[in-house]
Amino acid sequence: MTNVVLTGFMGSGKTSAGKRLARMLNLPFVDVDRLIQERAGCSINEIFARHGEPYFRDLETDVLREVLLQQGRVVATGGGAVISPVNREMMHAHGVVVNLTAPISEIEKRLAFATDRPLLHADKGAKIRLLLEEREKFYADADVRIDTTGKNIEDVASEVVAYLKGNNLWNS
Ligand code: S3P
Repeated sequence: MTNVVLTGFMGSGKTSAGKRLARMLNLPFVDVDRLIQERAGCSINEIFARHGEPYFRDLETDVLREVLLQQGRVVATGGGAVISPVNREMMHAHGVVVNLTAPISEIEKRLAFATDRPLLHADKGAKIRLLLEEREKFYADADVRIDTTGKNIEDVASEVVAYLKGNNLWNS
């Protein structure tokens, strides 16, 4: 079994749907952001504040590479992991890439009180719109895109399972 790699903007539901999906498929769940924080020994906010975004992105690529060397996992990536062509190539080489989408209004709602996303510390609304626009082409580089609008975690995870089964990527 290959990996199932979830991509999507902050607040698109990668972690919650990923955990549910992993249970449905009976596969381990891996959260790249969590591993980055464990590796760095501090929060993502602190990594950005102490070392800056480029350092975070290098760490993200290192951790993603290690994670994708294993097979048969559901992997939730950070919202910016798709920016790097190296990362996207690794995701496609070692997994089925599933992009979760949500309308801006929904993303804004979900992130309204979030303080743990360093890229959104100032001008949240404008920054969300800018980043979404800049990244759309990278999120579109997926095997399948799933619109999470109006769906709960269970629905989203079931849709991924249906896609995998329908494309003979999962057969148990
Ligand atoms: C980021 C998204 C975050 C985290 C970091 C940068 C981004 O992950 O990796 O704050 O660039 O979009 P989530 O998408 O899990 O919030």
